[in-house]
Amino acid sequence: MVDNAQLVEAADRWGTPLYVTDLDVALVNARAWRTALPEALVAYAVKANPDPLLLRRLAADGFGCEVVGPVELALALRSGCPPERIVVNGVGQTNPDLVAALGAGALVNAESVGALNALMRSGVAGRIGIRVNPGLQTDTHPHLATGAADAKFGIGLDELPTVLDRMHRSGVRLAAIGAHIGSGISDAAAYAWLAQLMLSLAEDSAVTRIDLGGGFAGSPAAHAAAIRPHVPDTSRLIVEPGRSIVAAAGWLLTRVVQVQPRGHLISDAGMTELLRPMLYGARHPVSLLSPGETLPPREGPWTLSGPICEAGDVLASDIDLGPQAGAGALLSIGDAGAYGAAMASNYNGRLRPAQVVISGGELQLSRRRETLEDLVARDA
Ligand code: LLP
Repeated sequence: MVDNAQLVEAADRWGTPLYVTDLDVALVNARAWRTALPEALVAYAVKANPDPLLLRRLAADGFGCEVVGPVELALALRSGCPPERIVVNGVGQTNPDLVAALGAGALVNAESVGALNALMRSGVAGRIGIRVNPGLQTDTHPHLATGAADAKFGIGLDELPTVLDRMHRSGVRLAAIGAHIGSGISDAAAYAWLAQLMLSLAEDSAVTRIDLGGGFAGSPAAHAAAIRPHVPDTSRLIVEPGRSIVAAAGWLLTRVVQVQPRGHLISDAGMTELLRPMLYGARHPVSLLSPGETLPPREGPWTLSGPICEAGDVLASDIDLGPQAGAGALLSIGDAGAYGAAMASNYNGRLRPAQVVISGGELQLSRRRETLEDLVARDA
């Protein structure tokens, strides 16, 4: 487990804002999925954190990748993940991209009838799956609920009979059927329900794989306990966990650069580095790693605000880091390993932060900080 001294060292060596991922923790979390479902394909959702050294480590340990789009597919392949262990999803992918993924050997889940038709018409031999819209309301942030009947994701249950019939008549075997019902879901019963539905839909129940997607916020053991009674043969299963593997394995390090006595600690990281608080009202724990100047006296809590020209640029509210959290203080923002670095942007001319990994007590730069040259490289 990373200790604070290592985080301080990382900030000293590479500057802030900085993402740090503990590869050993991520691996333990990934292996917990394998222990819970030893025969299933555990395909890490690359979108959660495409850190190159993390991807390499997971691939080397035998995990698969869930990818959306040709770039994530390329990243997964580059990391050493064999195509047999790659699952492609994505509601708005172009037909050529989908067909290319099929040709590359990945399992390609069609999310619309149009996509499925294009895959079938292509004549490319490969593994075609279907992502279904199961029509399930889940208890999560509305932006993270993907299984509802009116959501854009997946082929509708009403469309399915025709689609399966067409596949059958064309002699195209259904390689997998599945769904991804959302993210941040803590109710394991939703996955039991989903497993039952998918099994009942699987056209050829002997061979078709069942893809239960990702999104579970509880332990892999609780997920497995919920679905096992419904899926006797777990070798048919695919799971696509992202957050549960990396969230707790990552920190965003930031320094306080200015203090507004009316209650704002202004840090060198903001919504451009960690969008989740602003986008979903997500709460990430903040702690003081090393002291800065003494804060002016103040009744009441502080807000950790970023440097971006947006009033909503807040990383954390109601924080109390003690009197030494003034300019120069080094802070760590926890639970930031998933959808943190991955959603960083260049708004306000921000250069995306460096990413460092730690493994076996060693720090290593995984992706250097973006430079102005990177930023203007595409310009006329
Ligand atoms: N499979 C598919 C098809 C997905 O779309 C996702 C996430 C996953 C698996 C992994 O879900 P996880 O296990 O990580 O919950 N930006 C948001 C999360 C968006 C999730 C998108 N899809 C956030 O910061 O919370």
